[in-house]
Amino acid sequence: MRVVSGIQPTGNLHLGNYLGAIRNWVRMQDTLEAHDRAQIAESGSAQKSETLFFLADLHALSQPHDPAALRAATLEMTAALVACGIDPDRSVLFNQAQVPLHAELQWLLNGTARMGWLNRMTQFKDKSGKNRESASVALFTYPVLQAADVLLYQATHVPVGEDQKQHLELARDIAQKFNNDFCCEDAPVFTLPEPIIPGEAARIMSLRDGSAKMSKSDPSEMSRINLVDDADTIMQKIKKAKTDPEPLPSDVAGLAGRPEAANLVGIYGALTGAEPAAVLADFGGKGFGAFKPALGEVMIETLGPIRDRFVTLKQDREALDAILARGASKARERGAPTLSAAYQALGLVRH
Ligand code: TRP
Repeated sequence: MRVVSGIQPTGNLHLGNYLGAIRNWVRMQDTLEAHDRAQIAESGSAQKSETLFFLADLHALSQPHDPAALRAATLEMTAALVACGIDPDRSVLFNQAQVPLHAELQWLLNGTARMGWLNRMTQFKDKSGKNRESASVALFTYPVLQAADVLLYQATHVPVGEDQKQHLELARDIAQKFNNDFCCEDAPVFTLPEPIIPGEAARIMSLRDGSAKMSKSDPSEMSRINLVDDADTIMQKIKKAKTDPEPLPSDVAGLAGRPEAANLVGIYGALTGAEPAAVLADFGGKGFGAFKPALGEVMIETLGPIRDRFVTLKQDREALDAILARGASKARERGAPTLSAAYQALGLVRH
């Protein structure tokens, strides 16, 4: 398996970012490695799996952006990924901008991607809204760059959120058409990647409003748990989280119409690995006065060590630069053969 995924750099990282994409990546890295080890123990050898994770900083150009903020967010996100458990010795961790092969391959794939395919992308329609005429060309061709991101490395599996499924299907269509048009059946240039969409993707909601996603842009600090929050801040925010006056129900059906209660139970479950039903088996009938401190405790236990690593690494520009430089050099090495094969297949003269 070769797992490849990207994330757009953002600042002000919070619990939602961790329990959403980041923790999934960490699990993928750890599970694949354990799987390889088991195979080696069993049969003496194994095809080594590999995980490549990158900051999609080139994708950030598709929307208006502030260069200083982009640079800061790229470094901050790198620190967060490492703090959360992405190990640059075991995964290839890099930012797109240091691996020009992504942009090069995108151009080659622009010849294969069809206008009609891109016109159907719902994310472009959502993000361009009524302002299609003033949307950037990059917003329109964004999915072609995303296809290049994964095809460059012969990705077999791509963990993404549900909203990215259509982009992955496009990457498969591009790969298929390119293979058909430019190379012989027995030596396809590209592997068709499979999306991996986490089923139980914990949707982490605001602590002030159980119907709004936890977000970095919510003006209220009390609405989210930031990765930089210390233990006291976490406990205080949990204790002040909005709830209703009822005790917790004893089964999941009892959470209907109680979005704040459902969110806190969901967070507890996501942090401890328990299903909401199991959380309610323990806490059903108890009030928030008992539940909130318990939730605060498990959160501090999980986030405490992450926070400490994050805060230290965030300030260590030299270490971050070194991590990204090393990751980029590994990524260039991994991607070079496929890019050459694509140039070759297209009849472009190089060397
Ligand atoms: N578009 C993805 C998102 O917004 C980020 C991304 C860019 C990505 N390139 C990718 C994800 C390649 C998976 C594979 O979440």
